[in-house]
Amino acid sequence: MLPFLLPLLLASCAPMTEGEKMVSAGRKIFLRRCAPCHGVHAEGKPGIPSLKEVTDRFTDDAIRSFIKTGRGNSKPRMPPIRNISAQEVTRVIIYLKTLKPEPVR
Ligand code: HEC
Repeated sequence: MLPFLLPLLLASCAPMTEGEKMVSAGRKIFLRRCAPCHGVHAEGKPGIPSLKEVTDRFTDDAIRSFIKTGRGNSKPRMPPIRNISAQEVTRVIIYLKTLKPEPVR
């Protein structure tokens, strides 16, 4: 048991890089603020777009403004997200940039 657990323990103690911390913080914010609509894996739902690769389609500023003022004209539309700081938005965008679509099998 121990020889198996030891590398796991060591790996979990390895300090996260600054980048990893940002992604992990962004993921937490995403799960709280975005996932209820966009899905825990950003996969989307009927009427709600997937956010995988969304950072390839929109600039950071465009995404910032959707979060601030809402998005879309038809129902369901995205409401402005309240009580989210500029720093939290930056972290969510950093997290979104790490999302990749499922590989084609
Ligand atoms: C209350 C539900 C809801 C929440 C919460 C929500 N969204 Fe949305 N979002 C939507 C809907 C609905 C749309 C589609 C609007 C349209 O274009 O008609 C959308 C669209 C978007 C788009 C544009 C995608 C595209 O392909 O056009 C982005 C980017 C986005 N959301 C990011 C976010 C982020 C980041 C968060 C969390 C900070 C978030 N959303 C939270 C419902 C939500």
